[in-house]
Amino acid sequence: MSSCRLTELYDKASKHSQYQVLASPIRSVMDGVSGNVRSRWEEERLHFMLSRLSFDDATIADVGGNTGYFTLELIERGVRKALYIEGNKAHSEFVREAVSLLGWNDRVDVVSRYLSFEEDGDRFEVDVCLLLNVLHHVGDDYGVGVRSVSQAKSAILDSLRQLASMAKYLVFQLGYNWKGDIRHPLFENGEKREVIDFIRYGVDEYWDIESIGIAERLSGGRVVYSEVGARNIGRDDRLGEFLNRPLFIMRSKKRGPLSVA
Ligand SMILES: C[S@@+](CC[C@H](N)C(=O)[O-])C[C@H]1O[C@@H](n2cnc3c(N)ncnc32)[C@H](O)[C@@H]1O
Repeated sequence: MSSCRLTELYDKASKHSQYQVLASPIRSVMDGVSGNVRSRWEEERLHFMLSRLSFDDATIADVGGNTGYFTLELIERGVRKALYIEGNKAHSEFVREAVSLLGWNDRVDVVSRYLSFEEDGDRFEVDVCLLLNVLHHVGDDYGVGVRSVSQAKSAILDSLRQLASMAKYLVFQLGYNWKGDIRHPLFENGEKREVIDFIRYGVDEYWDIESIGIAERLSGGRVVYSEVGARNIGRDDRLGEFLNRPLFIMRSKKRGPLSVA
């Protein structure tokens, strides 16, 4: 196993899509990366998660883990065991090699398939599940049979309900458009409030929303996620669609006792 091979695999994964920046443990063992990786504010999102949840000795699942940023960064921050699940083979192959090169095979399980989110489908039990920017792809990457926005919305809620018996905490983000296509908005006005109400009332019996992070750009240009409030709840078109997506921290009403603070 070599870091050259890792670079090759990353280039291959990047051809499909460059989504995440690379986690620092991978950067330390890689020869160099070709191409420009566009950040989706991974560090800023991680910072918010770390400010709201303790990952010490926790088990996590990273569903739609992409090139492993959150899985690997969280292993460095005390996670005992991670389950990385990714349907895109180029991404999962890259993470498998990275994990092996880092000598972390006993700490990260790499699952190379799309999670079905069906009742009788894959099951796991973890302290924290990360489900970031995956569910609006239902009917595309996974979830055959979902053919309309209303079916997509009900499948999204079903998936969240399903996860309430599998994780104590959920870190969740959702795009505004079904399959990322602006011709198929999931919310009439594209407002944060609509997303928050949809999730809050849709999964009320399953999850408590403990915290909601909202991205804001500070005067120096830096982006930070801070707690939702009157000041930041309005849609901010200057930030673009991604940064308008609320970052939910939810606590299961179906799992316990809780070990993660
Ligand atoms: C938009 S990217 C988000 C990546 C990452 N979660 C983040 O927020 O930085 C969605 C990723 O989820 C993967 N994916 C989509 N549906 C999935 C599923 N049902 N099971 C596992 N991976 C999935 C895609 O291949 C892609 O890598």
